[in-house]
Amino acid sequence: MTDRHRLTSVDTVEEDGAWLFTVRDAHDINQEVMLVPCEDSSQKVNAYINTCTHEQQPLYRDEVGVVMRDGGVVCPKHGSVFDSCSGECDNGPATGTTLSEIAIDVDDGQVYLTDDSVDFLWGGGDTDDDDDGSPSSTSHLRF
Ligand code: FES
Repeated sequence: MTDRHRLTSVDTVEEDGAWLFTVRDAHDINQEVMLVPCEDSSQKVNAYINTCTHEQQPLYRDEVGVVMRDGGVVCPKHGSVFDSCSGECDNGPATGTTLSEIAIDVDDGQVYLTDDSVDFLWGGGDTDDDDDGSPSSTSHLRF
């Protein structure tokens, strides 16, 4: 059975609009992952690597979180919109591409990381300007 790590609750993702965390991938590279609401799925949230498929730009940004429009994640750089349930894009410069999905599970309103290809590091974004392994941000928190 797959080990799972509790991330947050579905309610938190829906209330905050998104929830960011950092993992280490199979290549030993830190990757930011965003949980976003998805009304049309039974688990109500999905997880994607926080990178636009067009120009490697972050979709979740510290100042604003994720901008959603009509159930889609809007890229802040050029405006392509990705379906939050499938990760697919059919508009703008990222047309025909799909966000990289990370496996999660939802159990009794709690969201768990179940993807064997990554290891959970911390809630919040990756370090920007230092390499001491500590989180640089608590960007999922709102005051
Ligand atoms: S960087 Fe996202 S659409 Fe161009």
